[in-house]
Amino acid sequence: MNLFQKKGLGQVHPGLNRHLRLWDLIILGIGAMVGTGIFTITGTAAANLAGPALIISIVIAAFCVGLSALFFAEFASRIPSTGGAYSYLYAIFGEFPAWIAGWLTVMEFMTAVSGVASGWAAYFKGLLANLGWSLPTALNGTFDPAKGTYVDLLPILVMVLVTALVLMNAKAVLRFNSLLVLLKFSALALFILVGIFHLNPGNWANFAPYGFGEIYGGQTGIMAGASLMFFAFLGFESISMAVDEIKEPQKNVPRGIVLSLTIVTVLYILVTLVLTGIVHYTKLNVSDAVAFALRSVGLGWAANYVSVVAILTLITVCISMTFALSRMIYSIARDGLLPRSFRQLTETSRVPKNATILVGIASAVCAGIFPLASIASFLNICTLAYLILLALAILKLRKDKGMPQAGEFKTPFVPVLPILSIIICLSFMTQYTKETWQAFGIALLVGSLIYFGYGYKHSEIYADH
Ligand code: ALA
Repeated sequence: MNLFQKKGLGQVHPGLNRHLRLWDLIILGIGAMVGTGIFTITGTAAANLAGPALIISIVIAAFCVGLSALFFAEFASRIPSTGGAYSYLYAIFGEFPAWIAGWLTVMEFMTAVSGVASGWAAYFKGLLANLGWSLPTALNGTFDPAKGTYVDLLPILVMVLVTALVLMNAKAVLRFNSLLVLLKFSALALFILVGIFHLNPGNWANFAPYGFGEIYGGQTGIMAGASLMFFAFLGFESISMAVDEIKEPQKNVPRGIVLSLTIVTVLYILVTLVLTGIVHYTKLNVSDAVAFALRSVGLGWAANYVSVVAILTLITVCISMTFALSRMIYSIARDGLLPRSFRQLTETSRVPKNATILVGIASAVCAGIFPLASIASFLNICTLAYLILLALAILKLRKDKGMPQAGEFKTPFVPVLPILSIIICLSFMTQYTKETWQAFGIALLVGSLIYFGYGYKHSEIYADH
């Protein structure tokens, strides 16, 4: 046994149907990315970190994400596998680094599900409050005894529903992805169009109240905003991972990535501009920012439309991420690194049963106890850490296996882009608080203990190099 035993590079999937066109990729990317990040985090990030200059943070975060998307695409076309960073690192650096990347990806998805469930609950609460209803204070917020809140019940309830739907095979819901993307667009477009008529340019007077921040180690400012808004772009991997089903991937993958990132970035910038233009950024520390802004200028009907769309679409983001995460845990368990019970499938729908239940419980607990901003920072730091591993892996892949062959995707400007990506990811990581780093340290420790206590002894992969 050794910690760095590698798994084969695998064969190109022979019979996969290359049916996805550029347009499908754009829809796929937008569907995966647009969620709580724009509906909720924009408000708190503008209020606490960057002010209206959050639009610059958004561009920086998009650039960082775009670089990693290129590496994902090269791996996806050269190492055909559905396991994402975990599988790629298994082939390049071996088992322990792969396990760490897999574990961090599990943390990323688990907390992303919690974050989206929190965003969902924020919009649901806004709608209820508008009707004059609210839950008892103790059950209406994450753990903060000073404010009298102990547990946030609504995201827990929605996770129970999401888990049940995934177990019953909710993949059908995901077939409506295009419709959901259209709905999200309609809500954000409505916000921009009606919001434009209520802009008060005076609200932008203090455009960058927290300044640029620091390249390394800042806590507020544009860079700190970028490190938080990074969350809003997660899901970008979905385009790269579909590489085997994409028509003319060499052309369409980079175009799909660039176009969907550009569309999402422009959309986020417009929403943020309008948001900070109709409400002063200091008032935006609320969790249903978009609806809140509309209500504050008397557009209750538009706020209700946005809330209903957020409620409908965020729940589907939870479903797709819970489903993806349970499959990820299943493939790690199939390699022997997690207990066999996680390989158990439901009889009819063939969904990994115990993995789904574990994801449901963990995400519900996390969403019920921790505030969204802490969840988002933790998930970002985990993601950035494995994106650094991925950038290093691209350098090693090129060294060991040379350039991509004809038909495979080639990242341009290697080694410049991977090195740049590492620098930006490190810069983002240093913007988080001590608590986020402590949580990250604990996650790494727990991950390592699981590996040395279980995975190391039960791994089913044998060196083939
Ligand atoms: N990008 C996803 C969202 O904003 C995680 O909800």
